[in-house]
Amino acid sequence: MRIVLGIESSCDETAAALVTDERVILAQRIASQDEAHRPYGGVVPEIAARAHAERLTPLIEATLGDAGMTLDQVDAIAATAGPGLIGGVMVGLVTAKALAMASDKPLIAVNHLEGHALSPRLADAALEYPYLLLLVSGGHCQILLVEGVGSFRRFATTIDDALGEAFDKSAKVLGLGYPGGPALEQLALQGDAKKVPLPRPLKGSAEPHFSFAGLKSAVLRAKQSGEYSDADIAASFQQAAIDCLVDRLRGALAKAGKVNALVVAGGVAANKAIRGALEELAAGHDLPFIAPPLGLCTDNAAMIAWAGMERLERGQSDPLDVAARPRWPLDPEAQAVRGAGVKA
Ligand code: KG4
Ligand code: ZN
Repeated sequence: MRIVLGIESSCDETAAALVTDERVILAQRIASQDEAHRPYGGVVPEIAARAHAERLTPLIEATLGDAGMTLDQVDAIAATAGPGLIGGVMVGLVTAKALAMASDKPLIAVNHLEGHALSPRLADAALEYPYLLLLVSGGHCQILLVEGVGSFRRFATTIDDALGEAFDKSAKVLGLGYPGGPALEQLALQGDAKKVPLPRPLKGSAEPHFSFAGLKSAVLRAKQSGEYSDADIAASFQQAAIDCLVDRLRGALAKAGKVNALVVAGGVAANKAIRGALEELAAGHDLPFIAPPLGLCTDNAAMIAWAGMERLERGQSDPLDVAARPRWPLDPEAQAVRGAGVKA
């Protein structure tokens, strides 16, 4: 049996996990920084980097302790090397390098997005490549054809905000606190999705990408108009977002060729209305719909350990001077999009 220690520190979660080649998560710990960032309504990079630096080493020790293991029993150390907030990424990667050097074990530099993209295979041994993945979180909003380890085709990304970001900003407009995605979903249950006319940015356009900035602004205008209840705004926003997702995914499914499943990952995958719509879309294409358990959808270290395991099994590892990368697109061939293009 092989075991990989995974480390994640690219955003506001400090996490460590031990995962086996038989897909068993032996132990995992996650320290969230939501409290530290809440007063600012978003992740503050400097606060995040400091928190990772303070927490990571004790967290790794505790994770090894939970599994009753020492570093000697681990076969490789995998850490997120990007994309993400560079201060946090460096804390995790430097720690991984030190552990790899001290224990003379291979180091595996994992692309955080690959961690998300392969996590469904940790949860489901039967899921074979290729599959179509919708990755939707606070930082990412992409449609990827996952062909294999290190082999991706990006069909769509966002030209402005990620979907989780749009949920959070809309939730803020409705006074729901941070991060507001889950609260907005709850409020939407009591609302009427047909009450507030909101745009479906890029829906039906030849451009395959996402855009949510205009939707978020429309939510602000709807709130300021005083004409609608918060619940109706929430429900209408969520439905507009779903319509955009389904429209863009239809286009991607048409382009992808034969795939084995439609898969969703990322924190927004927690949303039941979105899951329901995707399930229906998959059924319409005779495809299984796969959503990993929520703990694997949000940022975590088990997915990093698993991506490391898939690479280790293919004989891959990285030199100790491998660099941290704030931007690291999974599909190097994908064209840069208009807009900020910072969502990798
Ligand atoms: O993957 P994740 O934990 O990490 C980041 O990328 O930050 O995703 C967090 C994002 C947040 O924007 C949060 O509001 C959103 O996922 N989210 C949701 C729901 N649960 C989490 N959005 C909509 N509905 C939900 N139920
Ligand atoms: Zn993530």
